[in-house]
Amino acid sequence: MTNLELQPDFQASEDFAIAMDERDSLKEFRERFLFPKPAGGDCVYLCGHSLGLQPKTAAAYIEQELEDWAQLGVEGHFRARNPWMPYHRMLTEQTAELVGAKSIEIVVMNSLTVNLHLMMVSFYRPTPERHKVVVEYGAFPSDQYAVNSQISFHGFDPASSLIELTPRPGEFCLRDEDIDSLIEREGDSIALVMLGGVNYATGQAFDMARITRAGHARGCMVGFDLAHAAGNLHLKLHEWGPDFAVWCSYKYLNGGPGCVAGCFVHERHARAWDLPRFAGWWGHDEESRFEMGPDFQAMAGADGWQLSNPSIVSLAVLRASMTIFHEAGMERLRAKSVSLTSYLEFLLSQKASTAFSIITPHEKGRRGAQISIRLAHNGRALCERLAHEGVLGDWREPDTFRVAPVPLYNSYHDVFRFVRRFAAAID
Ligand SMILES: Cc1ncc(COP(=O)(O)O)c(C=O)c1O
Repeated sequence: MTNLELQPDFQASEDFAIAMDERDSLKEFRERFLFPKPAGGDCVYLCGHSLGLQPKTAAAYIEQELEDWAQLGVEGHFRARNPWMPYHRMLTEQTAELVGAKSIEIVVMNSLTVNLHLMMVSFYRPTPERHKVVVEYGAFPSDQYAVNSQISFHGFDPASSLIELTPRPGEFCLRDEDIDSLIEREGDSIALVMLGGVNYATGQAFDMARITRAGHARGCMVGFDLAHAAGNLHLKLHEWGPDFAVWCSYKYLNGGPGCVAGCFVHERHARAWDLPRFAGWWGHDEESRFEMGPDFQAMAGADGWQLSNPSIVSLAVLRASMTIFHEAGMERLRAKSVSLTSYLEFLLSQKASTAFSIITPHEKGRRGAQISIRLAHNGRALCERLAHEGVLGDWREPDTFRVAPVPLYNSYHDVFRFVRRFAAAID
């Protein structure tokens, strides 16, 4: 079936893009973000899968904390307009809403890879019989390093303890049934299934409910790296039931470079005091934290995995962004995202050429806002040329150009302009 048959309403004209933008109920959100001007002029920014744009309100949110710090010094922990001691909690509910979790399951802390390690300390408990970790082939390098180092840390060898789910020959994405059958076949020896919710390179979105069911049915722990899924897909973490999930906040969540990350621990582990964990004072029971006693007593829920007091300036930006997300609503955003990404795919299909192919799955349930374009020749040079002209996606070795029309701030006209420039560059 061609894309045209699936999307009979799309048209290739510029007027169509403009008309779609006029009809878009989320269009005013674009005005709330600052668009860069890398080439001095207008920018086509399709790079929210790498670094989200800055909310215009971010500066005011930061400014308030700087003012309170200047006015109050250490007293700001309790007397700032938004006291810093419980500041991170202002993000809990909105984040829980965003990823489909209960408040007790959510904490905003640290950075992504740190959180992944903390989760594996608790949920990767290998034994001689059950020591393997399942990851997707071509997982983000930091995930590979983290998983391999955890395996080695426990005295096992990644050569025999790491299972990489690999696409079939000639394919780029994994088939659900192949994931199921691997977990079914190897289940007795698998300690942890740890996949990206959306693969960073191909843009494939995994069926997290199905993977969780398959893993749990074989007695495995299940966790997800949602770096490319949080703020992109409509997640239902509590219902799907993985043991943990981690994500960063600087991509679709627009928290700014290096922003404080997120972590989900399923409610079933909220009071699992016997789970091993690496402890820090910020995870200690709040009532007695300042008694400064020597014995660690974890808080209930995801909060109990905190280590340190977080960066308030970084959290302030995230609050600015999460307030916007809350207003827009993930359901509406996802609906627009499905349409915008299909439109991008449609326009690219109009320019069909042997110079490029799309490796992201075509089915809307198997992808988020990203389209990964595989370039046959000189891809890096092409991306650099486009960047020079102010058209920003990003390049991933060896041959992939990733672009993401983000529903919160990208328009149909952005997509149109991107494809026009891309096609010209290809020509
Ligand atoms: C899928 C994935 N995992 C892990 C990371 C590493 O994130 P951090 O540097 O925040 O730990 C990234 C960064 O882009 C990523 O895309």
